[in-house]
Parts: sequence; C-alpha cells; structure tokens
Amino acid sequence: MEIAKRLNGIGEYYFSQKLREIDGLNKEGKNIINLGIGSPDMPPHPDVIKVLQDEVAKPHVHAYQSYKGSPLLRKAMSDWYKKWYGVDLDPETEILPLIGSKEGIMHICMTYLDEGDEVLVPDPGYPTYSAAVKLAGGKSVEYKLQEKNNYEPDLEKFDKKKLKKVKLLFVNYPQMPTGQQPSKQLFEKLVAFAKKYKILIVHDNPYSFILNSNPMSLLSVEGAKDCVLELNSLSKSHNMAGWRVGVLCGAKDRINEVLKFKSNMDSGTFLPVQLAAAKALSLDKEWYDEVNTVYWKRREKVFEILNLLQCSYSMDQAGMFVWAKVPEHYKDGYELSDDMLYHANVFITPGGIFGKAGKKYIRISLCSPEEKLNEAIERIQKINHDRS
Ligand SMILES: Cc1ncc(COP(=O)(O)O)c(C=O)c1O
Repeated sequence: MEIAKRLNGIGEYYFSQKLREIDGLNKEGKNIINLGIGSPDMPPHPDVIKVLQDEVAKPHVHAYQSYKGSPLLRKAMSDWYKKWYGVDLDPETEILPLIGSKEGIMHICMTYLDEGDEVLVPDPGYPTYSAAVKLAGGKSVEYKLQEKNNYEPDLEKFDKKKLKKVKLLFVNYPQMPTGQQPSKQLFEKLVAFAKKYKILIVHDNPYSFILNSNPMSLLSVEGAKDCVLELNSLSKSHNMAGWRVGVLCGAKDRINEVLKFKSNMDSGTFLPVQLAAAKALSLDKEWYDEVNTVYWKRREKVFEILNLLQCSYSMDQAGMFVWAKVPEHYKDGYELSDDMLYHANVFITPGGIFGKAGKKYIRISLCSPEEKLNEAIERIQKINHDRS
C-alpha cells in the first residue's frame, strides 16, 4: 500500500530507531547506559498518585470528558500561571488542556497551516516542530541559534520580504537542546517582531521549572496574547511524562480555533488523570526544590563526564540536559556518540539530530540516577586510560 505523500521525508523519530539499536546491543550483553532520552525517571508527588487512585475507584469518572477539559483542571492551570509566571488567564476561555504538549504542536500546525505556508523553526531545536509543519502541509524554514548570540534568534537578519509567507514562529526557552534561558528583553523583542510582521509565535515552555530559578512565560509580555500561543507541560516539571498532560494558553479566539481541530482528533483525557494533574499543579515550592536538588547533583556528574570527554559547555543551562561542544579530535557529535556507544557502552545524543547547527555538539540527559552516571564516568575513564 502506498503511503500518503505527506509522510515523504518524515523519518522514524531518531530515538525510536536508536532505542532499537540499543536494545539489540543489550541483547548481546552490552549493558548500555543510556544518557540520551529526556524522560524523568522519578515519580510524581505521592499526593498526585493518591488522587488518581482515589478518583479511579469512583463510579462516575469513566465517561468521555469535555473537549475543553475539566473546569477543575483549567482553574488549576490558570492558578499555576498566575502564581509562577504572573500571567492572568481566564480558565473558561484562555486555557486548553492537552494530551501532552507534543500533540499541541501538531494541533496548532493543523489549525493554521495551508499548503505552502512557511514556519520558522529553531536550529538546533526540537525535531517535532518541523515534522508537524510538514505533516500539516507547511514548509519549515530553519533559523540558526548560535552560541555567540546566546542562542537567541537574530531577528534583524531575517529576510523581511520572505516574512510575508511566514505564518508561525516556533520558539522555546529555556531552549532545548541548548539549555539557554530566556531574558525579558528577548521576550519583548519577540512580541514586537510578531506584531510587526503579523506572525503567530508558538512558545513551547516545558522546561521552565528545571534548574531554573526564574520561570518565565512569553505571555507575561504586555500585549502578548495578541500574537502568542504558549504550550506548557507537566511531563518534566511534575515527573508525569507518561501521563500525557499539557496545556495550551492564549487568547480566546486562538483557543477556539485550535479546539475546532482538536475536538475532531481526540475525546479528552481520563478524568482521574485530569484531577491528579490539578493536584500536581497546586504543589508548592518544596516540590520543585526537591526535584531540582536531584538534577543539581546529577549535573555535577555530567560535568565530570564532559570534562573527561574534553567538551566545552556553559554551566548556566536550564532544563533536563547539558549541551556541550565536542573537542577538535572528533569530526562532530555523531562521531563522539558512536565512539562512546561502541567502545564505552554509553549512549550520548549527537547534537546534529536537532539540526545542522547542532552538529558539533552533544546533549547529555539528567534523567539517570547518580549511580549510572558514576558508572558512565568509570567506563569513560577506562577508555581514556587505555588510549593514553
Ligand atoms: C522542547 C520540547 N517540547 C515539547 C516536548 C513534549 O513534551 P510533552 O511530554 O508535553 O509532549 C518535549 C519533550 O521532550 C520537548 O523537549
């Protein structure tokens, strides 16, 4: 059977392919330490689990749910945005709970893109942006993020004539994979740019609570609701990646536009999951501090690994990864990654999978316990010793 043309050029997601290879190596007895994927390995808060357990036992919770999500969850999301980002959102009209923010990226593309519409996507950046644009029939145009510019887009350099075709601009701060944190000035510049060129900005914001003392929302910029949709997620901030709870925030009209598509795609989220998510969003600072203490310690170990590999990196990165430049003796991040996978049995993500601008980099995840990181350190030390 011939598959639809829209899938031409869409490869299998890199990690799904790589995990298969790692599985194969493990079957050969290699015991690979996977420092690649960013799925939190710690559980959610016990109170969150308790709400799920209690709710699931009730008789009335098993039906289809509202397409707009439970009012209780929308209120919790609105309160969360007010408390942590200082942003006012009407829980009735400006919030749309999602089944994870990845799905939201697709919903937005399907809602706004016609054949040939262009979308600016970051390079390096989350590969799902360009895949979703393509699947929706649009054309993604990469904009480069460079270390020398603090991984901020050089808005002045964008070709003004070409901007006519651009409908959406994807941004993501704290940025994945580079760990770059946003500044108020950057956010203000982005909003001014979007207004001037009549572009809708999609800000993907799942990492603002990880190793970051100042969570920021692009919607906190005055007038941002006119030109910004923001995606957020409980996957990383609340250790709930498998639960699939995200949120789309923005102006009432935008939310209704996206809902028009989304309500034809899925039929809502299981109510106990929504109620447990509401509980998670009500947790206080202690929760985030606890999670970050663990990541903090792990990051010290990752710095040790990077030192052993002679990589250079900023110590001031937010999010669940460390982004680092590979030393000259490797051609690029792919070569380093293969070297470590086949000789040290340690998997590290090559930066090139996030775009051409990431080729000389690697990304190490903080989602492995310290013991695993220590073991990776020992394996790499052994290689270094054998090679010296
Ligand atoms: C930048 C970025 N955006 C979105 C997502 C998707 O998160 P979710 O679990 O909410 O779908 C990820 C997950 O890895 C991510 O790295």
